Amino acid sequence: MFLKLGDNVPKGSFGWPILGETLGFLKPHPSNTIGAFLQDHCSSITKSKPEFFNDIERIAVQILNSWKDKQQVMFCEEARKARSRISSRVKAIIEERRSRNGRSCGVRNDFLEILLSVDTLSEDEKVSFVLDSLLGGYETTSLLMAMVVHLLGQSPTASEQLKVINEALRYGNIVKFVHRKALKDVKFRDHLIPSGWKVLPVFTAVHLDSSVHADALQFHPWRWEAQDQTCKKFTPFGGGSRCCPGSELAKIEIAFFLHHLLQNFRWTAEDVDQPMAYPYVEFGKGLLINLDRCSI
Ligand code: HEM
Repeated sequence: MFLKLGDNVPKGSFGWPILGETLGFLKPHPSNTIGAFLQDHCSSITKSKPEFFNDIERIAVQILNSWKDKQQVMFCEEARKARSRISSRVKAIIEERRSRNGRSCGVRNDFLEILLSVDTLSEDEKVSFVLDSLLGGYETTSLLMAMVVHLLGQSPTASEQLKVINEALRYGNIVKFVHRKALKDVKFRDHLIPSGWKVLPVFTAVHLDSSVHADALQFHPWRWEAQDQTCKKFTPFGGGSRCCPGSELAKIEIAFFLHHLLQNFRWTAEDVDQPMAYPYVEFGKGLLINLDRCSI
């Protein structure tokens, strides 16, 4: 069978000049590394955990460096700085894909291609779908970051000990509820939930229930020293088969950011800015903070 260009074959070049990529593939490299060839060819597909760490830390340091000469920052805007860039990049990719498809009949079966071929969605809905998929993990993390900064600003002792992320998730309730549908009749305590009914498990109700978390309405990061973090009473990332796959990434991003933030700055809120659930949580005034540079 002959392959023609456009078939969904693995990436790489054929026979030019004469040996194709064979020399690059065979090029000697330390045996405890995968070598430059594989490094190049794999890196476009996946990034390893240490590379993510470097990226995350670099971005955190970059943002904090840009605050060096500032007295105040609007934290929510800072935490989302990449939003408009992501949005225009997604639009450009869709445009490019469309014009390329117009020129060739090559069929790709990736997520974007399948989405573009759906006739029942408008152009705007398609862009919004891609953005939502990307931003679902992005908006939540930037909001949790803002929540941590907001709560730490009110608790200098917690800042010193850095025990906040779980408590900000419990107390801040970044995701208030999730959507579920009963696929069959379900008995829950005294209730029967008929098949086909929509169910919204509300995490906030459990997180702020004082019979479940003592003094639930108080921000008290030290509770986590004694409390089990994996119990069903604490579900900021959902649970079961739809549980958030980005939970550890979100925590790592925030831990890196906090580490550098606390090494360089102390801050106070300019104004009372109570986060509100609409139900998406927002700081109405954007969380304006006054910065004090410190050296440790
Ligand atoms: C503070 C940060 C975050 C919070 C509070 C959060 C919360 C959640 C929750 C509650 C769900 C479950 C939705 C459901 O059951 O219907 C979920 C799902 C999901 N999250 Fe996150 N998330 C966060 C960060 C992230 C990050 C950083 C990523 C990716 C980089 C991400 C990607 C996803 C994806 C793809 C799903 C859908 C999983 C599925 O339906 O199988 N999240 N998230």
